[in-house]
Amino acid sequence: MNIKEDFPLLKNRDIAYLDSGATTQKPIQVINAIKEYYEKNNSNPHRGAYTLSQETTEIYEETRKKIAKFINARYSEEIIFTKNATESLNLIAYSYGINTLKENDKIVLSIMEHHSNIVPWQKIAKQTGAKLEYMYINENFEIPDEEIEKKITKETKIVGITHVSNVLGTINNIEKIIKIAHKNGAKVIVDASQSIQHIKIDVQELDADFLVFSAHKMLAPMGLGILYGKREILNNMKPFLMGGDMIEYVHEQDTTFAPLPNKFEAGTQNVEAVVGLGVAIDYLENIGYEKIQEIEQELTTYAIEKLKKLEFIELYLTPNTKNHTSVISFNIKGIHPHDVASILDANGVCVRSGNHCAQPLMRFLNIDSTCRVSLYIYNTKEDIDRLVVALEKTYNMFKKYIK
Ligand code: ALA
Repeated sequence: MNIKEDFPLLKNRDIAYLDSGATTQKPIQVINAIKEYYEKNNSNPHRGAYTLSQETTEIYEETRKKIAKFINARYSEEIIFTKNATESLNLIAYSYGINTLKENDKIVLSIMEHHSNIVPWQKIAKQTGAKLEYMYINENFEIPDEEIEKKITKETKIVGITHVSNVLGTINNIEKIIKIAHKNGAKVIVDASQSIQHIKIDVQELDADFLVFSAHKMLAPMGLGILYGKREILNNMKPFLMGGDMIEYVHEQDTTFAPLPNKFEAGTQNVEAVVGLGVAIDYLENIGYEKIQEIEQELTTYAIEKLKKLEFIELYLTPNTKNHTSVISFNIKGIHPHDVASILDANGVCVRSGNHCAQPLMRFLNIDSTCRVSLYIYNTKEDIDRLVVALEKTYNMFKKYIK
């Protein structure tokens, strides 16, 4: 199986692309499906009585069903299309959080959340008088069970937890977090942006109340996010965005809203991305999660072994190898990660550097930033070898300046 062959960009550019946590490359199957959609179907779904528009409505709604099946949602109307995971989280904050939280209620997040699962809650906490608390990690970069039990209490109404940290790659024990939250009467929001592409998700088995992810991190186009919510919760939520197609009747002074899922989908939607996501799901299912994990495990083990041999590298990684994905954060001691990333780039190696939209985590770890490698199914051991050679060059270039 030569997966790289399916990815035109990786054939067209002489690079080792190691930033799939930021966005994945797109397989030819997804690219072709979008082209075909524009050549044969382009029209606005839910808006035309003519066949072309009806066909687009069918593609759009069939993909919703496919996504529901993919994460084992009970009903397809539990799948809402948004712009990205960030918008999905804002929708929950503004449609659910703001209307249910009261003074002194607790919102509990983890310290490893992406800014998109922190900043909206800061605003909602200030507006409602709710308190924001964090579950912290231990020296193994994991949230200990006692921390979960200590922080999630009867006062907790909302728990926001990333399934996988975009910086550390730690897989959080969301099963335990959901169980404890429910025991205390809280609702749980799972951010699956860094897990859906690596780990099979079953929302019913998890019993997650909400789950969000972005299409572009799982081989599909940018500009499309998914919000899953339990039907009874979504039914009781007021819409966040107002506009076309989310209404039932509009009068001069008042409006009644459409049923689910339309009441949360105001305005023209990103149908090309929906088409792309449908094909991306087929592509991933065709490979299968077992194989995906086998490929990633082999690459990650190889990369960690190689990086550990470089004595100038500091790794930020849980020692529990079963408990992380293919995300590896590191620093060259004494050299700023942006400098490292620039030299790597000059050697054709793409890694992310900076705070990764996780400043509270960085502060907690007492560092400013890291370099981050995030591997995916199209990467090869040669990509990792190229990284290692480039890192050695970088170190040799800078070592005389290191104090
Ligand atoms: N949230 C994305 C990342 O971690 C962009 O890189």
